[in-house]
Amino acid sequence: MANPTLQAIKYQRGSLEILDQLLLPHESVYITLATLAEGHAAIKTMQVRGAPAIAIVAALTLAVVLVHPSTQSQLQTAAEAVAFIETSLEFLKTSRPTAVNLFDAAHKLAHGVQQEAALKSEAATAQDIVNKYLELAERMLEEDVQDNMNIGKFGAEFILKVWKGGDDLRVITHCNTGSLATAGYGTALGIIRALAGQQKLTHAYCTETRPYNQGSRLTAYELVYEKIPSTLITDSMASALLAQNPDKIAAIVVGADRVAANGDTANKIGTYQLAITARYHNVPFIVAAPSTSVDLKIASGKEIHIEVRPSIEVTTLRGPVVDLNSLNKVSNEVEFKRTADDAAAPVTETISIAARGINVWNPSFDVTPAELISAIVTEKGVVLKEDGVQQFDMKAFLGSF
Ligand code: MRU
Repeated sequence: MANPTLQAIKYQRGSLEILDQLLLPHESVYITLATLAEGHAAIKTMQVRGAPAIAIVAALTLAVVLVHPSTQSQLQTAAEAVAFIETSLEFLKTSRPTAVNLFDAAHKLAHGVQQEAALKSEAATAQDIVNKYLELAERMLEEDVQDNMNIGKFGAEFILKVWKGGDDLRVITHCNTGSLATAGYGTALGIIRALAGQQKLTHAYCTETRPYNQGSRLTAYELVYEKIPSTLITDSMASALLAQNPDKIAAIVVGADRVAANGDTANKIGTYQLAITARYHNVPFIVAAPSTSVDLKIASGKEIHIEVRPSIEVTTLRGPVVDLNSLNKVSNEVEFKRTADDAAAPVTETISIAARGINVWNPSFDVTPAELISAIVTEKGVVLKEDGVQQFDMKAFLGSF
């Protein structure tokens, strides 16, 4: 189970809090989400991010809104409740476009309450519809943790099966796919957690993950917190790391925001170049994702809408004000505790790192072709390609359950 301090989402009926990931790793601050506008803004500004976490926070924001007395008094009939839920989900879906989990959750929730209304027909009340919604949304939170633990188990088994390099087993990961990106445990980071738990992992390398630094801020935080032996590299160091450690890196393991029916995978920008270098160095490239990240409606990655984010994320860096003289003392510590002296200083500072006036291209994700992916690990098992085929058949795999 996730360590409580690495819990991105705290929910109980009627109340939702999220760990503000913009402030990590320097400060752990939970913020309350009580309205649809607050939930939408938290996802859009990336106070919460990561495909599964985005979907769950959207679903639970509406759960909180639905039990609020002002909403309850507004919803007189089952039809009004269904319409309110549908409209609210449509709004939440406009927060971020690439991760399919949000769209999948919204579809399942809307469909579930529509079915409830049809089943109970004339007898259905607004409260029946709200109750159905709460049941479905709350189940998503519970199921995500269990799914991730299964991904961890299957992924670790797969890596141990294909690894021929002996006791020194190292992996590289990208972005943040851990407790902070999910309801708990994590997907790609769940596999790393599972390997470490079995004492099979010698070392994990996490990329910085420019421009938003999910790797250095969030994954590094989780790895240090869990005491998993690990090293931070910048995105541009991965090929050199592979070249210098030819028999030590067992796999590159990443998450996914959307997997097409043929296995093409959208994930954090920089994933594609890691897959290319993995192929060059003959290292397995593994995608870890729950089946809610698979979009069977699209045949290939060409149909995935890639979010382009503001240029300021590339041209500036944000962080706490650091006393350079004390930097060496704190650089290997998990907590960057603020002292009485700097308590009055701003928590974060924005520093410009680019020439003024330069054009910026900031796609948040890229698409890795199925051809470069060795295996897709889901909570239902590991998907592989047929011999001699360059694509996965996600439909056949998921259809077999
Ligand atoms: O922009 P982000 O931080 O939401 O992007 C996150 C990723 O790309 C993750 O790898 C992906 O969502 C999987 S999280 C289990």
